[in-house]
Amino acid sequence: MSSTSVPSPSLRFLFVAAGLLLPASSLAGRGSGVLEGESGIPKKVTSAFPACGFCHGSGFPNERGKVTVKISSPRSLTLNGTMKATISLLGGVTNSTRGGFSLDSSGGILTRGTNTRVGNSGLSITHVNSLSRSWTFSFKGTKAGLVTWTCVGNTVDGNGRNTGDSWGWYGPNSGLPGVPYRIFVDAAGVTPFGRACAGTGGFRPLAGIATTPTIGKSFQLEIHEVPPATAVLGFLGFSDKRWAGLPLPLPLTGLGARGCILLTGLDIVQIGVSKGAGPGNGVARFTWAIPNNPSLRNLALFFQALVVDKTANKLGMTASNAVKTVLR
Ligand code: HEC
Repeated sequence: MSSTSVPSPSLRFLFVAAGLLLPASSLAGRGSGVLEGESGIPKKVTSAFPACGFCHGSGFPNERGKVTVKISSPRSLTLNGTMKATISLLGGVTNSTRGGFSLDSSGGILTRGTNTRVGNSGLSITHVNSLSRSWTFSFKGTKAGLVTWTCVGNTVDGNGRNTGDSWGWYGPNSGLPGVPYRIFVDAAGVTPFGRACAGTGGFRPLAGIATTPTIGKSFQLEIHEVPPATAVLGFLGFSDKRWAGLPLPLPLTGLGARGCILLTGLDIVQIGVSKGAGPGNGVARFTWAIPNNPSLRNLALFFQALVVDKTANKLGMTASNAVKTVLR
């Protein structure tokens, strides 16, 4: 897969030549950040070739050491909630601790933290100097549903030039562009809890609900970041404390799924098959219809998913995070 996304030598030459032909003015001051849409910066700088390679080095990612772009943050939040995120670059060029990054979000609002600045009305963020390889910022979920981030980081040697550096994208393979970091913004009244375990390729099933569950209406439980065309169990529990005589949360490590945790009961179970193509790009959706019965008001409901992922662990299954709601 990665081989098909590496540009041919002639294309690469074009990128590098284009970089060299840019007016000096547009080349100055890149140490103070790189955002899509700024003068001289290619479109989709965080999600497609040539990214930082438009100007840095030979044009290829990981040229002087494999770069890992690590993103640490909660994976879900409730509508209008705010969370902190940290980007760190690991590996790459070892003769310096300097670096830079650029990140684009499909929605919400990014707010600057340490050594960062935002652009594109809060949808893009970058470094303001090249003094570190770690940055913090915050994110607000302004619309319920899935949000994707794409990110690219450059470990630089600190020579103040676009040479001697090594850059890569976020994802299990930093030579592969466009791998999204997924965040779910749950509807008002839906609270995420618990942590998903990693499946094949490090992808973690992400469960969320984008419509507030209401008596007499239906809504969907969405499970993102699962293998495509795999079986997914989406389930509803009436408790996050006990199920079928078992205490919850219940770690599944003993069954061969290290780090996976049953967070809610399986009182009503639906089985589905994920759609999508490519590692981690599967999504399964389960519709739940709440009867139009006022006595259900104030009932607490918990939702989670188990995902068939044969090569993830001995059990061949992973578990998502969970969400809680109280019926209105
Ligand atoms: C349009 C060309 C261009 C692109 C695209 C570009 N850079 Fe640069 N970059 C430069 C130039 C020229 C310099 C050296 C001058 C300077 O530091 O301002 C530089 C320097 C830097 C430095 C400081 C280097 C040092 O050794 O001190 C960092 C950090 C950096 N770039 C990060 C990035 C990142 C991250 C990307 C991709 C998101 C990127 N750059 C994309 C042209 C570019």
